[in-house]
Amino acid sequence: MTLQEAVQAYYGQELSSSADLKTTACCDADAVPVWLRPLLAKVHPEVTSRYYGCGLVCPDQLAGCRILDLGSGSGRDAYLLSQLVGPSGSIVGVDMTVEQLAIASQYTEFHAQQFGYANVSFLNGTIENLEDLGLEPESFDVIISNCVLNLSTDKSAVLQGVQRLLKSGGEFYFADVYTDRRLPEAVRRHPVLYGECLGGALYWNDFLSMARTAGFPDPRLVSHHPISITDPKLAPLVGLARFHSATYRLFKINGLEAACEDHGQAVIYHGTLPEHPERFPLDHHHVLETGRTLPVCGNTYRMLHQSRFREHFAFIGDFSRHFGPFPGWGSLSPFNDPAPDAPAPGPAPGPSAAPTPVPVPATPAGCC
Ligand SMILES: C[S@@+](CC[C@H](N)C(=O)[O-])C[C@H]1O[C@@H](n2cnc3c(N)ncnc32)[C@H](O)[C@@H]1O
Repeated sequence: MTLQEAVQAYYGQELSSSADLKTTACCDADAVPVWLRPLLAKVHPEVTSRYYGCGLVCPDQLAGCRILDLGSGSGRDAYLLSQLVGPSGSIVGVDMTVEQLAIASQYTEFHAQQFGYANVSFLNGTIENLEDLGLEPESFDVIISNCVLNLSTDKSAVLQGVQRLLKSGGEFYFADVYTDRRLPEAVRRHPVLYGECLGGALYWNDFLSMARTAGFPDPRLVSHHPISITDPKLAPLVGLARFHSATYRLFKINGLEAACEDHGQAVIYHGTLPEHPERFPLDHHHVLETGRTLPVCGNTYRMLHQSRFREHFAFIGDFSRHFGPFPGWGSLSPFNDPAPDAPAPGPAPGPSAAPTPVPVPATPAGCC
């Protein structure tokens, strides 16, 4: 049996509800915000009982969006987001497990009646082969996925398919499981650990490299939480490896740079997103307060300026000047430390003194 067949058997036959899971990898979802609860309550209970996600995949500003859900399972996220995109938007779910698809498809009519419109459809396919599904390139505003990428045996192919299907300015917003180290072969091929979304989890640094290679230069971490392995037989198998569920957003934006660069720009959030009157959380590090002028790196500027969030911001500056790395962004100049054989800095730099080290800013001045 291949790993893919094992995954189909796990989600199609082995599990019949989230109560059957042996770890908190799936279903330890970030708390559903209060404003979303009435929408979730409208989703059919059989759909929600087979929810196996590991995070909240609900980015802001979805009205009218066309969304693709990779590994849509029983359709919980699809039906939740159906209500946010509204009648002018649409959701397409893709899954390879017929039992999961059967549940999802069985309730399309039920939800159409609940919401007053039909905008959700499901396709049988594998997320590594999205080009086989007849979906038009660059036709999706947002692609989501909840606890599925780790189950893929060709994660690079999935990211390349996402890059192909996203509109420019769109984003891949997804929750998945990551490890703090590369896992040994025995863990990676263990059928239950794999099915439980642990065995196939990427070491987080490998994920970042893979995302950059697929054309997403600046992955943004939105939220994360640790995962515990509750089954006493499974826990010892992973040794010291630690697992996290994390939600990332990968923007497909022209001109994103490999690092946070300072072009002297700033943005001001208008406070106009209904769920965020006080501050807009772009990601874990970038929470933009209403009315405050916030210096930002070029990438953050572009993510707001070239995406569906543009109308909610005022933008200051352009890319006509460059001021070096954005203050506070990770490793600054490689020339900060003196070379091993450099003379010790003398008291007063004269004409022949060693160059003055580039100063390291004490505190982040803005977004990064
Ligand atoms: C952990 S469940 C998550 C389901 C759903 N996203 C949710 O939140 O309930 C993983 C789902 O991904 C599907 N899946 C796994 N690998 C896949 C692949 N390579 N192609 C398509 N679907 C896949 C499985 O069939 C299963 O329904």
